[in-house]
Order: sequence, then C-alpha cells, then structure tokens
Amino acid sequence: MRAPVTLQRLDEMKARREPIVMVTAYDFPTARTAEQAEVDMVLVGDSGAQVVLGHESTVSVTVDEMLVLARAVRRGVRSAFVVCDVPFGSTEVSDEQAVATAVRFVKEAGADAVKLEGGGAARLSRIRAIAEAGIPVVAHVGLTPQTAVALGGLRAQGRTAESAARLVREALAVQDAGASVLVIEAVPADVAAIVLPALRIPVIGIGAGPADGQVLVMHDLLGITEGKTAAFVKRYAEIGHDMVAGVTAYAQEVREGVFPGPEHGYAATEAAIAAARDALEAAASGIDTSAPGDR
Ligand code: KIV
Repeated sequence: MRAPVTLQRLDEMKARREPIVMVTAYDFPTARTAEQAEVDMVLVGDSGAQVVLGHESTVSVTVDEMLVLARAVRRGVRSAFVVCDVPFGSTEVSDEQAVATAVRFVKEAGADAVKLEGGGAARLSRIRAIAEAGIPVVAHVGLTPQTAVALGGLRAQGRTAESAARLVREALAVQDAGASVLVIEAVPADVAAIVLPALRIPVIGIGAGPADGQVLVMHDLLGITEGKTAAFVKRYAEIGHDMVAGVTAYAQEVREGVFPGPEHGYAATEAAIAAARDALEAAASGIDTSAPGDR
C-alpha cells in the first residue's frame, strides 16, 4: 500500500518537479476510483452540488450536504490527501464561523485540509484564522464559482490588465496568509506562469496551463457530466454513455422476460419445493401447516 500523502510530500513533489495529480470525488465509489488510480490529492469539491446533487450552481449546497459527501469519500480513500471544499455561506460571516466550519470537516469527515475560494481581504483573514487553528488550507483564486455572479459569470479571469494584476496579488497574499496549497482556475497560462515562480506552495492548475499539479472534476473527465463543459476539460472516457446503454439493456431484458435467467437465482431442495406447494394448498383450504414455533 502507498504511504499516505502529506503536505510535506506535496512540498517535496513540487521541489522535485514531480507533477501532483488531484481529482474530485463525491462518494465511496468515486473515492475508490481515485484511490485505485493512485492520485495524490482528492477534492470533495462543492462542484458536487451540480454533478451529483443536480443544483444549478455550487452556491446552494449546505455544510451538512457536503459533510455527507466528504464522509463517504473519506471511507474510500486510504493514501491520497483529502481536501474538502467549504461551501458558500459557511465562512463568510466571521473568522470564528470559518474556523468552526473547518473544524467540522476535520472532526466529522476526516478532512486533511479545507479549500476556501477567493483572495480578498476578508478571505485572507479566514485563511489566517483557519491555518492558525492548525487546519491546512487550500486557497483557490482565479475563477471562483461560489462568487461567479460578482465576477460577471463563470468566465476566465486574469484576461484584462486589472484582473491579471489582481490574480497575482491574490495568489501571493493567500500564500502569505498561511495557505498550504493553491488552486488557480481558468486563467490564461501566460498570466499564471508569471506568478508561479514566486510561489513556494504547490500550485494546482485547472484551466491555468502547466503548474505543480492539475485538478479536474471526475465526472467531467469520465464523460458523466451532460452537456457543455468548460474549455479546460479533457474527456478521458465516455462513462455516461455506457451507463445509459447498460440501464437501457437491463430495462429491455426485463420487459422481454429475458432477465432474470436461471443463473441469477438460488437453487431449492425438492423438500422445500414440496413444502411450499403444500403450504399454498393448505392456505387455500384453510388448514394451518406452520411449525408450532411459528404460531
Ligand atoms: O469544486 C470543485 O470541483 C473545484 C475544482 C474545480 C477546483 O473547486
């Protein structure tokens, strides 16, 4: 079995330029998939709000819903480093609220770290407070879906002079505030490449070009997500088609009486069959054939 991935190991991987692989997971089977693929980091992303809970955006998912997903993932992961997204509304009020939320993910779900979106002044205060409480923080800058409305929609960041400068400032600031890892989402690779050499902490990119590591949403890369995905998604499988094909074939066989076949059942002894027949006949004629103990 692989040794558990730690923050120290992630730092070593960065130092050795060994790419860090991160993927999302939302339940026991996807956690097992990530673990068996030997990824380094598993993210219980609030993207689960959309890809497994069917919400329109990540904003509506609650802490309790995320905890259910996180606990299932934790049960499936042995060695990867498990990061849990703290959902919108669970850290915005105060540093105290943020620490209390982060503590829940560690105590109730066994998270190794929590991920917080944003790099503005209030977010820096939250990152500092959580890190000082002894909980590793993964920061997330660039496109931050929880506040997409304020960003003008789910669109790439760092494309204008103002936005590129803000991206660089926020990346440096979250590191200074105590973040252990940084995710940069949907930013031109040329802009991300400018700040990367100035960052000591491992940087995981998603739509941000080459970085110390990469993250993708598992349902996107496996082809389970329906409809259009972001430009940065690469599909490595078409599991969604296979899932529909499998259930369609099952439905057809049930409707045609092909399934179940004799091989999908259990054998009975002659005595059991005779007793079942006798019981039915007795029931029809009103005689009680049950054993004394059953009465
Ligand atoms: O929620 C999520 O899946 C994420 C990744 C896209 C980084 O935050």
